[in-house]
Amino acid sequence: MRLAERPQPKPAINDVLVEVHAAAYVPTEIDWPSTWADRAGKPKTPSILGHDLAGVVTALGYGTTGLSIGQRVIGISDWHRDGTLAEYVAVESRNLAPLPGDVDFTVSASLPISGLTAWQGLFTHGRLQSGQTVLAHGAAGAVGTMVTQLAREVGAYVIGTGRAADREKALDYGAHEFVDLEHDDLEDIGHVDLVFDVIGGDIQERSATLIRPGGTLVTITGLGDIRPVEGLSVDFVVESVPAQLTEIIQRVRDGRLRTNIDAVAPLDDAIAALNPTQRRNGKTVISIRP
Ligand SMILES: NC(=O)c1ccc[n+]([C@@H]2O[C@H](COP(=O)([O-])OP(=O)(O)OC[C@H]3O[C@@H](n4cnc5c(N)ncnc54)[C@H](OP(=O)(O)O)[C@@H]3O)[C@@H](O)[C@H]2O)c1
Repeated sequence: MRLAERPQPKPAINDVLVEVHAAAYVPTEIDWPSTWADRAGKPKTPSILGHDLAGVVTALGYGTTGLSIGQRVIGISDWHRDGTLAEYVAVESRNLAPLPGDVDFTVSASLPISGLTAWQGLFTHGRLQSGQTVLAHGAAGAVGTMVTQLAREVGAYVIGTGRAADREKALDYGAHEFVDLEHDDLEDIGHVDLVFDVIGGDIQERSATLIRPGGTLVTITGLGDIRPVEGLSVDFVVESVPAQLTEIIQRVRDGRLRTNIDAVAPLDDAIAALNPTQRRNGKTVISIRP
């Protein structure tokens, strides 16, 4: 990674140009094919990373409706286009939601990918109902803390997992109980209605066998070979859905949802902040205009 001067992007049809105030990214982005190729598969190097954004609209593309210049916005930029770890980004307006004036840009930038991934995994794909049991893997992580809180809010019983050091944080974010994947026996929890997998591999496959008939395995890391025998398996990539973003922002405003920020750094310090020498403990937010 390096900091570089690049031309200001131009908003295309139905885009807006956003002056980015804060941005965040998913550490695995560097390995995603979409980081390095456009939608036609043509190489895209150098690539601007980051897709979470909070900022202000400064220009509209041809034919863009629904957002206006000066409006505060939040959202996820397209995976194949240049990203949000920049002073300006051109984004499809359909990927953005209005951001109320009382929500801080730094907090906002930490929410779109983690919050929407949790929302869509639990409600769109997992069809979670009150009274059901959710196994929330990586419950102290960026996605897992959102999964735990949203599942608990709808009246689900949440079993969080993670490393031994994650126990307190997972319980603090609302998990009813915690399984230390390094020392406890996952199979001791019995059966669950929904597995929300953020880890993959052996943990995902062992979890699939714990799903009740009619239950669902939702994963964001690709499906393995072992699937629930009498249930659904869904592997998905999060989409930016403005109505869901508005729901998430509303929950942050009224205190139902707490974000999970590990570190905040200015753009000049972004490379060190995005490549920490110690274990991450939530989102790293880059404050582009502090
Ligand atoms: N498909 C999608 O739309 C989508 C969206 C968002 C994220 N993702 C992917 O989902 C994954 C999680 O994202 P995130 O942002 O929530 O990451 P994160 O903040 O690092 O959270 C993951 C948590 O799971 C823990 N964990 C991982 N492997 C574990 C293991 N074997 N045993 C115990 N704990 C383990 C991690 O601990 P350690 O850090 O110690 O490993 C961390 O606490 C990433 O691979 C990301 O690329 C996919």
